[in-house]
Amino acid sequence: MTKASKVRKAVLPVAGLGTRFLPATKAMPKEMLPLVDVPSIQLIVEECVAAGIEEIVFVTARGKSAIEDHFDRAPELEALLERRGKTDDLARVRRPTELARYASVRQAEARGLGHAVLCARDVVGDEPFAVVLGDDLMDAPVPGVGQLIAEYDRLGTGVIALKEVPSGQEHLYGIADGERDGARGLKVKRLVEKPAPGTTASRLAIIGRYVLPPEIFGILAETPPGRGGEIQLTDGLATLCSRRGLYGLEVEGERFDVGDRAGYVIAMAHYALTRPELRDDVRAGLEKLLQRR
Ligand code: G1P
Repeated sequence: MTKASKVRKAVLPVAGLGTRFLPATKAMPKEMLPLVDVPSIQLIVEECVAAGIEEIVFVTARGKSAIEDHFDRAPELEALLERRGKTDDLARVRRPTELARYASVRQAEARGLGHAVLCARDVVGDEPFAVVLGDDLMDAPVPGVGQLIAEYDRLGTGVIALKEVPSGQEHLYGIADGERDGARGLKVKRLVEKPAPGTTASRLAIIGRYVLPPEIFGILAETPPGRGGEIQLTDGLATLCSRRGLYGLEVEGERFDVGDRAGYVIAMAHYALTRPELRDDVRAGLEKLLQRR
């Protein structure tokens, strides 16, 4: 029998403003933008749960209560659907609630991703945990977070998800460099948050999934503001790397950047094409559109 993982909690920072999607995000969190009929944040939670995560910790902010409502019961709606015998709809409404246990903490000020993770310190406590960013969706046979958890359980050091990005895009990401280990591994030696173009040899970008030991909290508490005047998770990870080591894993699977408008549209098409009841109509419609433009 395989040993149960110690990684039971995932921190999901959802406090960001989502300015790239205004005006859609004026009164609605960007994490609630749907991929077909499922909000992107639910796909993230589903990935975590498929990887064995039991508790989700949202780091939220003002204007984000729709996320908490989405993962809560909706007694009136449920009663109505039940009375009408709409069992499929009822199951869809209940699913988010039943996936995991939920907690949320507020990030009162936008002080950066490192600060957002630090806000979850008391809820996570003294145990390893995952961090998953809502802008990066993954469709993979083994959930992206699950791939990292397996490496964490094997190595006992922090693990970050990496993907090689095309040359010229390095400045959009945290970039890792180090010593290759097998086909997909990297013993991380250096990390830099959003390097200026042409300043890094590596094109291995951090793609929004991390499994970290609780020591990261103490490190983040001492990490000074970095790029953009914000407390950067990447800077905290660089310290963790020098003290305890850090491992990078090129995760297997397709990644969609739903924090970007074009990426969001592409992801929508992908998820529609994976749905048997929609696939043929969507494919025909897209082909027609592409012929005309
Ligand atoms: C954050 C991280 C960055 C990472 C990226 C992945 O940046 O700071 O290191 O590469 O997520 O999506 P953001 O995209 O929030 O600016």
